[in-house]
Amino acid sequence: MKTLVLANQKGGVGKSAVATLLVHYFAQHGQRVLAIDLDHQGNFSKPLRMSERAAVAAYTADVLMTGSVGSLPPKPFVLVPSDRALLGLERQPALHTPFARAFRAFLASVDAQFDVCVIDTNPNPDIRLIAALASADFVLSPIQLNQEAMDGVHGLLNHDRVGVRKIKAVLNPKLQLIGLLPTMVEPTPFQKANFVQVIQQYRPLMIQVGAGPGEFAFVPRRSAIAEAQASGAVLWEMKKTAARDAWKEIEPGIARIAAVLTARESEHAPAA
Ligand SMILES: Nc1ncnc2c1ncn2[C@@H]1O[C@H](COP(=O)(O)OP(=O)(O)O)[C@@H](O)[C@H]1O
Ligand SMILES: [Mg+2]
Repeated sequence: MKTLVLANQKGGVGKSAVATLLVHYFAQHGQRVLAIDLDHQGNFSKPLRMSERAAVAAYTADVLMTGSVGSLPPKPFVLVPSDRALLGLERQPALHTPFARAFRAFLASVDAQFDVCVIDTNPNPDIRLIAALASADFVLSPIQLNQEAMDGVHGLLNHDRVGVRKIKAVLNPKLQLIGLLPTMVEPTPFQKANFVQVIQQYRPLMIQVGAGPGEFAFVPRRSAIAEAQASGAVLWEMKKTAARDAWKEIEPGIARIAAVLTARESEHAPAA
């Protein structure tokens, strides 16, 4: 099982929407997928529950850190949903190391049951994010193309507690940054200018989808994506042409990310 964490220290950038697209994509492509929602806001759990595609675990994601857990439903697509109790974990610092260990042990225990595990996280740099990054193979960072978010890329890499470089050096040398995924991209001159700037500044961190220059993975701002999140629909199955058009723009990026996750070791060239 390969584990991917969605991380960005900012809320509302489209992390949960990307996580949702990814798990449906994996499930549709025959991968056995485990979805874990570590954000108490539950914006990954809600659309998955509504979709009725994923079997829901008998316990919530906080229990993966605090308790010993029973087995998961023997299904190819399983959700361990969010709960308010996730908020309380950070307030028990004496237990943080056991929490991270329990989470890692849980992932190891389901290694043979799933091909991929996608973990959605909360924006705070707290023990939930640390435990996820400390156990994961990959991290993907959805970002918005504004100055503040781009400044945040520095924190993604260098934050004292949850920066990818720090986690790699101290807790998890196998962690790899798949890259930055610009989300809610709009065809405004302002965003185009910002896209150019991100590419100039962070080119090695962009996810290349084609051979041409500037062929990078991104997610456009489209109301169909918000509707899919609100209704539990799978974007590419929605009747509206707008939804299918949106999916056409997104698919190459999602397919690329999926390919990195499911590549066999020998085929996989580290990105960062
Ligand atoms: N590409 C997009 N286009 C339009 N709306 C989006 C897009 N991605 C996410 N949204 C909507 O924006 C809001 C925030 O997205 P969400 O994925 O929950 O962000 P995060 O998980 O980073 O907090 C949600 O209402 C979601 O449905
Ligand atoms: Mg979210």
